[in-house]
Amino acid sequence: MPRIAVIPGDGIGTEVTRQAVKVMERAAALSGRTLEVTHWDMGAERYLRTGVAITEAEFRALAEDYDAILLGALGDPRVADDAHLREILLGLRFRLDLYVNYRPNVLLDPRLSPLRNLDGRPVRVDIFRENTEGAYVNLGGIFRKDTPDEVAIQEDLNTRRGVERIVRAAFEYARMRGRPRVTMVDKANALPAAGSLWRRVFTEVGAGYPEIEQDAMFVDAAAMDLVRRPERFAVVVTSNLFGDILSDLAAAVTGGLGLAPSANVHPGRHALFEPVHGSAPDIAGRGVANPLAAIRCVALLFEYLGDPGLAERVENAAVAAIAGGKTTPDLGGSLTTDQVGDWVAAALAAAPPRSS
Ligand code: IPM
Ligand code: MG
Repeated sequence: MPRIAVIPGDGIGTEVTRQAVKVMERAAALSGRTLEVTHWDMGAERYLRTGVAITEAEFRALAEDYDAILLGALGDPRVADDAHLREILLGLRFRLDLYVNYRPNVLLDPRLSPLRNLDGRPVRVDIFRENTEGAYVNLGGIFRKDTPDEVAIQEDLNTRRGVERIVRAAFEYARMRGRPRVTMVDKANALPAAGSLWRRVFTEVGAGYPEIEQDAMFVDAAAMDLVRRPERFAVVVTSNLFGDILSDLAAAVTGGLGLAPSANVHPGRHALFEPVHGSAPDIAGRGVANPLAAIRCVALLFEYLGDPGLAERVENAAVAAIAGGKTTPDLGGSLTTDQVGDWVAAALAAAPPRSS
C-alpha cells in the first residue's frame, strides 16, 4: 500500500492541500486502491514555537518510510528570512537528491492565457529544472558585512554529472511522450563556463536521441519567446535558477500559478509534489485560494506511483472544473477553495480515464 506523507505547510498551503488529499483519497477509493496518508506538522507555526523546522529523524523517516511526499506551500511573513522554508523544502530537494524538477505548463483552455494573440495555438511547455545545484547550493558568503566595503559572493555550481542527469531526464521524457523538441536554456554569452559545460553535455547526450529536434537558447531570448511564441517550445531543460524564473513565466502564460503543479523527483527513489505557487499569506484563510495546482499534483503523484489511468482521471476532473467554470475567482468562477475541491472529487466518477 503506497504511503504518502502530507506536509500542508503555511498559508494557503493548508487550504489547497486539504482539497488535494480529498481528491486523492476519493480517486483511490474509486479504483479500489488504498493509500496510507500521514499528515506532518511542519511549517512556520512549529518553527516559531520550537525553533525547529525539521529534525534528522524526520528527514530519515521521509526518506525511508514513504513512497511520496505531497507538500502545500511554505513561507510566512513572521519568518523574515524564510529560514524554515529553506531548511524544509530546499533541504528535502538536496538531501533526497531530487534532481528533476518537472514543471508541466499546459494551456488547458485558450481563455486562460493573458496573451491575446494566441489564436488557438496549443501551448505545452514541459520544464525540466535542475534541482540540486546551480545557484541554489548557497556556496559563498558575506564579507565586511554592514560596511561600505561589503562583499556578497553567491556561487553557481554546475557539475558534469548533475547537468548530464537532468539533460538525460528531459530527453527520456521527450522520447517517451513523443515530444518533438528539447530546448536547452542557458546564458552562455555572458556566463561562458557554465554555458560551455551545459552546451557540450547537451550535444553529447542529445546524440543518443536523433529523432528529437534540439536547440539551445539564451535565457533572455527564451523569456521573450515564452511570451511572443510559446508554441515553439516543447521540452525545456535548464539550470535551477533559470528554471525557477522560467517556470513562473510559463505558468503565467498558461493560466497562472493557480494551475501549475510540479514534481521533484529522484527517479526510482524519492518524489515530492508541490504546487509551483507559494503560501500567499495575503489571501490565506479566506477560502479563495485556487486548489487546482495542488489537485493536479495528485495526478503527477499517481503517475509516479505507476497508475497513469488514475492520474488521467484526476487531471480530467480538474480540466472539467475549468471548462465548466467551477473555479475560484482568480479563474473567473465564484466557488470557494473547498467547493472546488468538492466539485472535482465528485467529478472523478464522471471523468473516467480515456485509456487504461
Ligand atoms: C519554487 C519556489 C522556491 C524556489 C522558493 C520558495 C525557494 O520559488 O519552488 O519555484 O526558488 O525553488
Ligand atoms: Mg519559484
